[in-house]
Amino acid sequence: MIEKRHSRIQGWGVFATEPIPKNRRIVTYAGEKITNKESLKREERYLKRGHIWCFKLNRLYVRDAAVGGNVARYINHSCTPNCYTQVIGDTIWIRAARSIRKGEELTYDYSTDGVGSVRCRCRPGCNVML
Ligand SMILES: C[S@@+](CC[C@H](N)C(=O)[O-])C[C@H]1O[C@@H](n2cnc3c(N)ncnc32)[C@H](O)[C@@H]1O
Ligand SMILES: [Zn+2]
Repeated sequence: MIEKRHSRIQGWGVFATEPIPKNRRIVTYAGEKITNKESLKREERYLKRGHIWCFKLNRLYVRDAAVGGNVARYINHSCTPNCYTQVIGDTIWIRAARSIRKGEELTYDYSTDGVGSVRCRCRPGCNVML
């Protein structure tokens, strides 16, 4: 249903290889389950290289896709995304926010706090800080 390809947003991205219906569970965001405290240390290290890999599960835990991640680690952020995320227990699902055409790049809103050093390139002139 999806594959990793070069993205116009940044580096690698993930694209639909067939039409995806609205609300379909597409893929889980895999990665090592770590504490929030450990994540803060790692995120600082990753951000120095402009990388965001840690996804918050809840108040206590985070998944770090840099360790044990799957293809979902290559899904880019957009401020007008075509996917959304849903946390069920320990699992983070990436789901279709609307029907997605074959060939479209998958995106979701990273919902970061904006203190990172990555400038958003989801569309010309966006420039929001991720
Ligand atoms: C989870 S990875 C996504 C895959 C990434 N494109 C790659 O090639 O490894 C997150 C990183 O992708 C880049 N990225 C994702 N969405 C972006 C966006 N909207 N604008 C600029 N960079 C973005 C940033 O460098 C961010 O640290
Ligand atoms: Zn943007």
